[in-house]
Amino acid sequence: LDPVAPILVKKDGGELSDEQIRGMVAGFTAGEVAPEQMSSLLMAIVVRGMTRREVATWTAAMIDSGIRMDFADLTRHGRRLRTADKHSTGGVGDKITLPLTPLVASFGVAVPQLSGRGLGHTGGTLDKLESIPGWRADLSGAQMHRQLAQVGAVICAATADLAPADRKLYALRDVTGTVASVPLIASSIMSKKIAEGTESLVLDVKAGSGAFMKTVDDARDLAETMVALGTDAGVRTTALLTDMSTPLGRTAGNAIEVAESLEVLAGGGPRDVVELTLALAREMLDAAGRPDADPAEHLSNGLAMDSWRAMIAAQGGDVDAALPSPKHTHDVVADADGVLTSLDALAVGQAAWLLGAGRTRPGEAVSATAGVEWHASVGDPVVRGRPLLTLHTDDEARIATALAALESAVGINGRAPATASSRVLGR
Ligand code: URA
Repeated sequence: LDPVAPILVKKDGGELSDEQIRGMVAGFTAGEVAPEQMSSLLMAIVVRGMTRREVATWTAAMIDSGIRMDFADLTRHGRRLRTADKHSTGGVGDKITLPLTPLVASFGVAVPQLSGRGLGHTGGTLDKLESIPGWRADLSGAQMHRQLAQVGAVICAATADLAPADRKLYALRDVTGTVASVPLIASSIMSKKIAEGTESLVLDVKAGSGAFMKTVDDARDLAETMVALGTDAGVRTTALLTDMSTPLGRTAGNAIEVAESLEVLAGGGPRDVVELTLALAREMLDAAGRPDADPAEHLSNGLAMDSWRAMIAAQGGDVDAALPSPKHTHDVVADADGVLTSLDALAVGQAAWLLGAGRTRPGEAVSATAGVEWHASVGDPVVRGRPLLTLHTDDEARIATALAALESAVGINGRAPATASSRVLGR
């Protein structure tokens, strides 16, 4: 393979052959294509895009770089279990995986939820769950299988042999300004989800300041590309487009988001988190052959909470232990009377990250207690001098930088916004 030829084809806006794509992906994974050659090709893809055929081949090449998991033989009490999974393209305060996974599993559907760690200002499901004393993210394929058969719900890290090409490509994209590209994001996400072996998949594609896709049009393009990739690979795939201009719920961080998820599992919690959890649960249950199931019932009757407790305990977590609390808190008060008209998701995510909830270097430890809590959602009345946000951290020196990130995050106006907002923008 000549690695320079495909770079030049893409630079000039041409279409790569299947052989060129497979050669570059396999060659880079094996260390035969140099990182500078791959990063040059990636930048050409960011600028020129890819045809649907190119994205499909690129995704297939990433899947073929590793193992494919298979849950076709999962049974409980002699009955075969259907599998359903959800993937969110990432946002601020997006803790939906935490209540959603045990909720769907409480209906007898197996949920093999492979999750990630925080990336920039967006939080990571595994980082959040690690704030529960004893909980472990790393399971072998056999352990995952056993837990799915027994408990139905598992949230764990992907093993190193699942789409290793994506692992290597993602690390390169992260440091070469080549993350924000529909074909590269779609193939990265879908290679992992198809290799994971789920029968059905619901995508939560975010649009807004706190998301990778800033506009609804770009989010729709990403959603359509991913649905086509999943469907062509035999995975029943649907997508919801959801708003990420304001952060989800009332908290962003690690332990603080686990606490909010527990409120949802106990039948309470912020309205928008409950709305999105139920909307995604209905999609997953429908795809798994349970269109008449009522997920709201299992939040109020405790069955989703029972499923959570079993899932956490199975991975070593102490379900009755207190969650860690921060050494320092700092209130930001409202500077006017009125209605909260905006709360910028990106700024809140950055503040949580600066307080210690995320990493600045790969592999760094995150703080379990760091995060931001807001005491009003957009549309709620606020009172001058009363706390609007509370910052949580173990490191007092971080408060000033987090406050600077929040400088223009909040909008307060005399009148309420015209419409009651729903998180779900489209399907
Ligand atoms: N999440 C992924 O897994 N990959 C991307 O490229 C972006 C978000």
